[in-house]
Amino acid sequence: MLILGVESSCDETGIALYDSEAGLLSHALHSQVAMHAEYGGVVPELASRDHIRRVVPLLREALGRAGKSLDDIDAVAYTRGPGLSGALLVGCAFAEALALAIDKPTMPVHHLEGHLLSPLLSSDPPTFPFVALLVSGGHTQLMKVTGVGEYELLGETLDDAAGEAFDKSAKLLGLPYPGGALLSKLAETGTPGVYELPRPMLHSGDLNFSFSGLKTAVLTLVREQGEGLGDTFKAHAARAFQEAIVEVLVKKSLKAMKQTGLKQLVVAGGVGANKQLRNTLNDEARRKRFRVYYPELEFCTDNGAMIALAGCLRLQAGTPAKEAGAFAVQPRWPLMEMSVSGR
Ligand code: KG4
Ligand code: ZN
Repeated sequence: MLILGVESSCDETGIALYDSEAGLLSHALHSQVAMHAEYGGVVPELASRDHIRRVVPLLREALGRAGKSLDDIDAVAYTRGPGLSGALLVGCAFAEALALAIDKPTMPVHHLEGHLLSPLLSSDPPTFPFVALLVSGGHTQLMKVTGVGEYELLGETLDDAAGEAFDKSAKLLGLPYPGGALLSKLAETGTPGVYELPRPMLHSGDLNFSFSGLKTAVLTLVREQGEGLGDTFKAHAARAFQEAIVEVLVKKSLKAMKQTGLKQLVVAGGVGANKQLRNTLNDEARRKRFRVYYPELEFCTDNGAMIALAGCLRLQAGTPAKEAGAFAVQPRWPLMEMSVSGR
């Protein structure tokens, strides 16, 4: 079974071909980062227009690389939500129209389910059940994953997402968009302990997070500096922020491992690319004798491969494919609605 995957929920257009037997055959990606950088953030209207421009050439690229033609595709999976409605509509309309033209069904996919299952694309994948730490630009959740569509929410952020906190703090430090990855690079040059920032909800006793206070603490630190932030200050402040957020993410993940008794932790979403988070989790995993799995770096942020994979796994798990044609996107869509337990 050959599945075409289409991702267009935010600022990346991704197309991929996933074969249920052979695995990922090809994927093609265009990031709009350079285009949005000029505006300091994602401009939804520009994002939608760029998806329109990119999607057909990317499809040709993915087909060419895999040595496949449209006739070989058995179903078209695409991101139905959550995300920017205009951006989602491009991928959704494209996928439904293509499927209609080649007379094949579609499989609308939840973007976060794509992230959640993306470590299964690696050559050494985890097996069910596992605990998942989902840390993206819009979401921060700890979940117990027993199978495809079998999710139990263990904890989540009460306000900002981890990636959002990275991006907002980066902006406060005067870093250009997209700030998260740049802040983490800068943090590598800073010294821990020069500044101390709060670890929100570290001792809350549950598995929930809160990051808006941490962002405010960065704002206060920046204000105390007055006019013009020096490079040394920025590096130390970035380090202080990263130390704080990584400690909270790691401690809560350890608590989730203890609470569930599971031996595998999967880290997914853009913040999963963070080196300090990876190093700290790897050290803890060695000490506590569990394994941590990450998606390949290229599949940490948005891509078509994880959507094709999620679509394929859904079909294999018995979720009925949809007849191509009519469609709707779902810009707001809690992941737990995808779980058989419904919460
Ligand atoms: O999963 P993703 O591509 O998009 C969403 O679905 O939200 O994640 C994007 C987020 C952004 O907030 C970005 O700043 C963050 O991931 N990110 C990072 C790093 N690379 C990307 N955060 C911390 N360290 C990084 N190296
Ligand atoms: Zn994403």
